Amino acid sequence: MKIIMLGAPGAGKGTQAKKIADKYHIPHISTGDIFRANIKNETELGKKAKTYMDQGLLVPDELTVNLVIDRFKNPDCADGYVLDGFPRTIPQAESLDAALAELGEKIDYAINVDVPDDNIINRMSGRRACLSCGATYHIVHIPTKEEGICDRCGHELILRDDDKPETVNKRLSVYHEQTQPLINYYTAKKILVDVDGTKDMADVFDAIVKILGA
Ligand code: AP5
Ligand code: MG
Repeated sequence: MKIIMLGAPGAGKGTQAKKIADKYHIPHISTGDIFRANIKNETELGKKAKTYMDQGLLVPDELTVNLVIDRFKNPDCADGYVLDGFPRTIPQAESLDAALAELGEKIDYAINVDVPDDNIINRMSGRRACLSCGATYHIVHIPTKEEGICDRCGHELILRDDDKPETVNKRLSVYHEQTQPLINYYTAKKILVDVDGTKDMADVFDAIVKILGA
């Protein structure tokens, strides 16, 4: 099963993608997580990506597309994968389609996690992330047992640099301009499904499982 997660920054793509990956035993591929790991390890890619991410801008397509295409050719993706944060522009979606067509494959579902902008700002300011294992929490909705420490791996949690309110506003406007057009793109391909992302996390996941099948 090959799945794309669509939705505004903070809509809950990562939260739901991790649950999907666990339930259906497929890898979770998040371009944001890949870039953050590169930033942490101070790689060349990380240094380049950081200049865009810190401003709330998209990393250029030429740094992003091959990264994902190389990743899903790995043997662990044989039964499918869930793409989180990619594609994010029409050219990325077209490159993805072309790469899949060469393999005789296609995406099965594009799941749009729908959340209005007003809810987003609140979610982002409360989010805490673990750069070590990729877990995310929310100080109100998913608190950790010990404040500031990852329940899963014990590392310290951070507030992402791009979760500051002014950067969140920029990310939202970039989303509306460059990523939202993908909703029409995948609607035309008849694989778009909408879920109401304002519900509780468990209810959002139930809605997704109804679509994907148990
Ligand atoms: P990326 O890491 O993909 O960030 P994003 O799309 O902005 O999305 P987020 O990760 O912020 O939100 P999410 O939807 O995953 O929400 P989450 O589940 O964490 O990208 C970061 C940057 O990298 C981009 O800005 C860009 O620069 C670059 N980049 C990445 N991919 C790229 C690409 N393809 N092309 C170019 N550039 C790229 O949830 C948010 C919070 O809400 C959490 O605290 C969570 O606990 C809470 N929450 C989740 N669900 C619920 C719920 N139902 N109710 C209450 N709270 C909830
Ligand atoms: Mg995410």
